[in-house]
Amino acid sequence: MRVLGIETSCDETAVAVVEDGIHVLSNGIASQIDIHARYGGVVPEVASRQHLLAIVPLLKQAMTEAGVGWTDIDGVAVTNGPGLAGSLIVGTNVAKAITFARNLPLTAVNHLEGHIYANWLHTQDRQPEPVFPLVCLIVSGGHSDIVLMKGHGDYTLLGRTRDDAAGEAFDKAARILDLGYQGGPAIDRAAREGVPSLELPRPWLKGTNDFSFSGIKTALLRMMQAGGISNKANAAASFQEIVVEVLVSKTVAAGREYGARQILLAGGVASNTRLRQRIIEASPLPVLIPPPVLCTDNAAMIGACGYFRFLAGKTDSLDIDVIAGLRLG
Ligand code: KG4
Ligand code: ZN
Repeated sequence: MRVLGIETSCDETAVAVVEDGIHVLSNGIASQIDIHARYGGVVPEVASRQHLLAIVPLLKQAMTEAGVGWTDIDGVAVTNGPGLAGSLIVGTNVAKAITFARNLPLTAVNHLEGHIYANWLHTQDRQPEPVFPLVCLIVSGGHSDIVLMKGHGDYTLLGRTRDDAAGEAFDKAARILDLGYQGGPAIDRAAREGVPSLELPRPWLKGTNDFSFSGIKTALLRMMQAGGISNKANAAASFQEIVVEVLVSKTVAAGREYGARQILLAGGVASNTRLRQRIIEASPLPVLIPPPVLCTDNAAMIGACGYFRFLAGKTDSLDIDVIAGLRLG
């Protein structure tokens, strides 16, 4: 079964063709990072206009690269939340138009669920299949969730952030240190040149699977304002080390507590070099992490998730709407 995946929840327009939920036939992404970099963050109105400009050419490109025509597509999967409403509307309406015109089934995918399914996609350095029950850490610009997954489409939220998401914390720390946009990759790069030497608070929130990252960010801001940061690479490494340590230890502990057979990472922050390294070192369970290009927003993960939804008979009607605050579990 070939699924056309469409993703426009934030600042990447993405269209992909995925076969049987695992083979990526094409994975087109039009990034808006350079445009939003001028403003230091995503401007929602600008994002939705860019999606409008990019989506149709990208759709044609993704189908050409996959070597498929409309008769080769068996269904369409589209992200309908969470995300920016004006951005989600573009992808959702394109998906509705295609399914209406071509008489194809439609399935609406939760963006976070999509991130998890990036782990099912086959890549060159093929990793093992995900095995249930598993614990997944989803870390993106808007979420830091620990999720227990007992089967396809079966999610229990074990923990979440009480304030800033991990990606948001990286982005804010980069702004404080004036390391540029996009913050996460900027901290990742800077940290490679530094050593974690600053004393910053470690927010453990003991006895819970929840996270809190705003205190570390505020401590970093105070240090910067007080002139206490002479080496930005060391500051970036210190900040990153604490965030990674908290994410890793809570995820590994949740895996143990809930009898998981594997740990999965997902979301943009899962492309962080130190996080990838530390969780593999610290976990007694096998760890699956998609390659960086499938961790950040893409449509192949939406196509993969869509395939498993179609298998489970989860189709949606043309009445579906976007849900900016959609949750998982
Ligand atoms: O999943 P994603 O592409 O979009 C959302 O669904 O939010 O995640 C974007 C987030 C941003 O906050 C970005 O700074 C962060 O992921 N990110 C990283 C890295 N690459 C992207 N954070 C840390 N290290 C990275 N290498
Ligand atoms: Zn995302």
